[in-house]
Amino acid sequence: MDNILEIQNLIVEYKSNKNNSSLLAVNDVSLNIKRGEIYALAGESGCGKSTMAKTITKLVQPKSGKILYEGKNILTHTKEEAKMYPSQVQMVFQNPYSSFNPKMKIGDILKEPLDINTSYSKNAKKSIIRDTLNDVGLTDKVLELYPHEFSGGQRQRIAIARALILNPQFLVADEPVSALDASIQAQIINLMKDLKKQRDLTILFISHDLNVVRYLADRVGVMYFGKLIEENDTISIFNFPKKDYTKTLLESSPKLVVTEQ
Ligand SMILES: Nc1ncnc2c1ncn2[C@@H]1O[C@H](COP(=O)(O)OP(=O)(O)O)[C@@H](O)[C@H]1O
Ligand SMILES: [Mg+2]
Repeated sequence: MDNILEIQNLIVEYKSNKNNSSLLAVNDVSLNIKRGEIYALAGESGCGKSTMAKTITKLVQPKSGKILYEGKNILTHTKEEAKMYPSQVQMVFQNPYSSFNPKMKIGDILKEPLDINTSYSKNAKKSIIRDTLNDVGLTDKVLELYPHEFSGGQRQRIAIARALILNPQFLVADEPVSALDASIQAQIINLMKDLKKQRDLTILFISHDLNVVRYLADRVGVMYFGKLIEENDTISIFNFPKKDYTKTLLESSPKLVVTEQ
């Protein structure tokens, strides 16, 4: 398998204006993600997982390092390459509610990326929206409704649909089930597994919950204070953790039972 994403010596620094201090949220991380795999980034709150996600999706600018997507450094994209990037890499957030405009109907929320990034006909957009909703287990009955009219699980399905609407090959999912009840978590995790297969997706799955990671991921990277301290295939990480920190993390994670649908 070849690498779809290569991260080299990535450093992301947050500067505070208050006392002139700075924090290395990501401190010299290098990792590769293979085409078609689910790579999980695990670690406690504050270790830099979301910063990694935001840097890969260009929401945050790193201090230094390289992020090669399909061999091209996204930090030195040309205008044309930058324009293409949203149709290649998309993100699903922990709390979709905060990333939805509450005044927009679901139909408009799903249409917006198509309006901005494509010149498809009205009918083509409609059929993409219908197909994508179908893929996430919803029907076009949702189009006229507003975000607040849905449960957390349904909203996360809508967020996944929006992320998939431009048919990206790479999905960054940042704690996509952490805000959901356990039973709903299992549904969304199984949905992501199905979508990955159906659409040949590569997924960077970020979670502090190792049970979810164990169920879903092919490989796991463990972060600690901005560093990637251990990385291995999922079976090895869970059965033969090398670092003491990974062992502690494994021992302290609560049990979640996820069953196949
Ligand atoms: N916008 C920001 N400004 C300043 N510090 C931030 C910002 N976002 C995150 N941080 C800090 O960077 C570190 C890593 O945060 P984050 O990437 O959100 O970690 P995680 O997702 O693993 O919880 C934390 O110490 C956090 O407080
Ligand atoms: Mg986070």
